Amino acid sequence: MSIPFQTFSDVAELHQATADAFCEAVETTLQQQAVFRVSLSGGSTPKRLYELLSERDLPWDQIHWFWGDERNVPPNHQDSNARMVREAILDRINVSESNVHTVDVNVEDPAHAAAAYCETLQQHFQGDEYPAWDLVLLGMGDDGHTASLFPHTDALGVSDRWFVENWVEKFDAYRYTLTAPAINSGKRIWFLVSGANKRSALKCVLDDLSDPHQYPSKLIQPTKWFMTQDTQQAG
Ligand code: 6PG
Repeated sequence: MSIPFQTFSDVAELHQATADAFCEAVETTLQQQAVFRVSLSGGSTPKRLYELLSERDLPWDQIHWFWGDERNVPPNHQDSNARMVREAILDRINVSESNVHTVDVNVEDPAHAAAAYCETLQQHFQGDEYPAWDLVLLGMGDDGHTASLFPHTDALGVSDRWFVENWVEKFDAYRYTLTAPAINSGKRIWFLVSGANKRSALKCVLDDLSDPHQYPSKLIQPTKWFMTQDTQQAG
């Protein structure tokens, strides 16, 4: 199955198109079911999307917000993905806290925190082998990571759990992340990638012969790539 790439002249265009696609996905989904369940990404590219979405007229009471990854810091820490999403959208819209499912970070016991979030997910996706997200939003780092699936980290090989703690040597810290199968179970899986600094990683991720443990985004089967021209083309 060929994967649709949507390429935009600049990141502003990418963000508007992704916001339009998000609204369309919500509308389509809510014609068939009562809630729309989205897994959110950290990072600056997704953040601008959230800011734009806060200005749209969406059925906020029917959208449930989850995190695809989180840092091992308190929720008010500047590096917290929960804090970023609250500032970008959740604090700007009329949303019930019962629709917001943050990772209950436990800095001293990341394994416990990851297991607890797994339970939260299993409550919301009861009976699924892996979570049947209506949408998974993903960024991609210039090293080819996505979510907090970083090169040569233990989480890359996990398939019997949905959400894990992941030691990342280069940060000398734990992260929390969905595992690859728990991302690939999404009905829509979108990468949002912009910037010439991502060009090399993207080329390797799309290369059939590259090592997915070196370029973890390769473990993901996206349904769409939203990218800017400077990410795709050389020069
Ligand atoms: C995180 C993200 C991470 C991010 C990429 C891309 O917690 O940082 O989940 O995977 O999406 O690093 O970030 P940018 O879009 O800022 O380049």
